[in-house]
Amino acid sequence: MEPCQTCSRRKFLGGLLTACGALSGLAGIARAGGGPLPDLSQALRLKIADYPLLAAAGGSTYLSHDGGATVLLINRGQGSQFFVLDPTCTHLGCRVDLYEVAPRQEATQGQIACPCHGSAFAIDGRVVGGPAQADLARYSCRFADGFLEVDVPGLVFGVSALTPVRSSSGEARVEMTFPSTNFSFYRLRHASSAAGPFLPVNFALTKDGALNQTQLTGNGAVKRIYAAAPGAQSFYQLELRIFELT
Ligand code: FES
Repeated sequence: MEPCQTCSRRKFLGGLLTACGALSGLAGIARAGGGPLPDLSQALRLKIADYPLLAAAGGSTYLSHDGGATVLLINRGQGSQFFVLDPTCTHLGCRVDLYEVAPRQEATQGQIACPCHGSAFAIDGRVVGGPAQADLARYSCRFADGFLEVDVPGLVFGVSALTPVRSSSGEARVEMTFPSTNFSFYRLRHASSAAGPFLPVNFALTKDGALNQTQLTGNGAVKRIYAAAPGAQSFYQLELRIFELT
């Protein structure tokens, strides 16, 4: 699959500094010095308030966590109803447009059009006009407390090992191991209690390296990063950046 059909790689990186990106996708809390690690998750946890296009019924946007290799078309229905679709047209594979509602039309009575040969789909992905014959594929999702959790097959996100270490100068650090995904961006937050607040924190790429990294790019390999471990207990959240595609 081609990465990012609508943003070039350059634009995608530029998005880190401009409006293309929104920070979201939190892994569970990992505690240094013992205790269970969170399960590696196959769900993207999206804070809906981060996406103004989904603020009201009829809203629609594309999101990706991996440079566009996986694109989610998210449509908002009434209230807390969301539809998460694969925007690949079931006719010949073009990316369908965002869901659109015509003036004076009910928010849920609009349609998703395919720009290639005119197929049309309802807000929930049901085909309503050919030549496509099949519905758009749907991802299962749940919405609660302002967060939409989307099950994404193949996604593996979370900290798989957390090990207290010391740098050669004796500084207490923690080594964090996690699987990474191609074209994904990771950040780290720290708190001194499980209740937070979790604040962004720099990390190093080696046990003795400078704590000056703010973000790590995934390449499909297992990654190790090192953070300071101040105080008796330290809690960390790994973050995965989610990009709104244009
Ligand atoms: S690819 Fe969508 S209608 Fe043909």
